[in-house]
Amino acid sequence: MTTVDTEPRWADLLSAWDAQQTGYLPRREERFAAMVQALGAVLGDRFTVVDLGCGPGSLSQRILDTYPEATVIAVDADPLLLQLGRNALAGYGDRLRWVDADLRDPTWAGRLGVDAVDAAVSTTALHWLEPGALFSLYRRAGQLVRPGGVLLNGDNLPYDPGHTIHQRLADAATERATHQAFTVAGVPDWDRWWTTAGDALADAARERLERRARADERYGPRDGDRLTSLTTHVTALTEAGFGQIGTIWQDLDDRVLLAVR
Ligand SMILES: C[S@@+](CC[C@H](N)C(=O)[O-])C[C@H]1O[C@@H](n2cnc3c(N)ncnc32)[C@H](O)[C@@H]1O
Repeated sequence: MTTVDTEPRWADLLSAWDAQQTGYLPRREERFAAMVQALGAVLGDRFTVVDLGCGPGSLSQRILDTYPEATVIAVDADPLLLQLGRNALAGYGDRLRWVDADLRDPTWAGRLGVDAVDAAVSTTALHWLEPGALFSLYRRAGQLVRPGGVLLNGDNLPYDPGHTIHQRLADAATERATHQAFTVAGVPDWDRWWTTAGDALADAARERLERRARADERYGPRDGDRLTSLTTHVTALTEAGFGQIGTIWQDLDDRVLLAVR
C-alpha cells in the first residue's frame, strides 16, 4: 500500500528559513559561529542561555549542537516561527524550551521559569524594538544574567548619524548581497518563505495575522525609521549594568556586541 506523506517537512522548512535569512545576511553562519564560540570561551561547556527573538531556533540549534550539556530557553512572540521550531527541533527534548512572550511586555522574563541565566543571546531581532523598549529589555536582561555572565547581540547596528559614508557602504553591500541571493541565485525571499510556511502551518499563520492586527505593527518596522544605532545599544547596556561592552565580530554594520554582567 502506498502512503501519502502529508506531514510538512519541518527540517526542510527550517533550512529554507536559514537560506532566506542568509540571503539578507551572507555571513550569517560566520556570525553565529563567533557567538557560539564566545559562549564556550567565557562560560565553559555547561550553561543555560536565553535566546531572545529566537524565531524557529537557528541560533539555539547551533548552541545545542556545539555544547551537549547546554540548555536553551528560546523566546519569541511569533506563533508560526515558534510552532516550526517546536516541530523541527523536537529532538533536543528538554534541553530546548520554548516560551511565547512579547519582549516589549515587561513581564517576559518572569515567564522563563528560571531566576537567572548564564547568558542572553539574540540575532537579527532586537532591531525591531523602539529605543524605549530596548532600554527596558536590556534592563530586565541585566537582572536575569548572573554576574560574570554575558549578553551577545548579533544584528545590524547602524553607524551613528553623520557616518554617512560608512552607512552608505553598508547599505550598498546589503543591496548587492540580496540581489545576488534572490535575483541571481533564485533563493526564495522573505515573502515567498512566508507563503510556503503559511500553507504548512495554517492555524499558526492565522493566529499570527490576528496577533499582528491586534498589535498594530508590533512586530514590524515603522516606515522611514532607521534601526537603533550601535551607540544606543551601548548606552542601554551600560545603563542596565553591563560592562566591557565591545564588538567581537563585524562586517560593516552587521556586528556581534558582547557585554559582560
Ligand atoms: C528576522 S527574525 C530572526 C530570528 C532568529 N533570531 C534568527 O536569527 O533566525 C526576527 C525575530 O524577532 C522576533 N520578534 C520581533 N519583535 C519581537 C517582540 N516584540 N517579542 C518577541 N519576539 C520578537 C520575530 O518574531 C522574529 O522571530
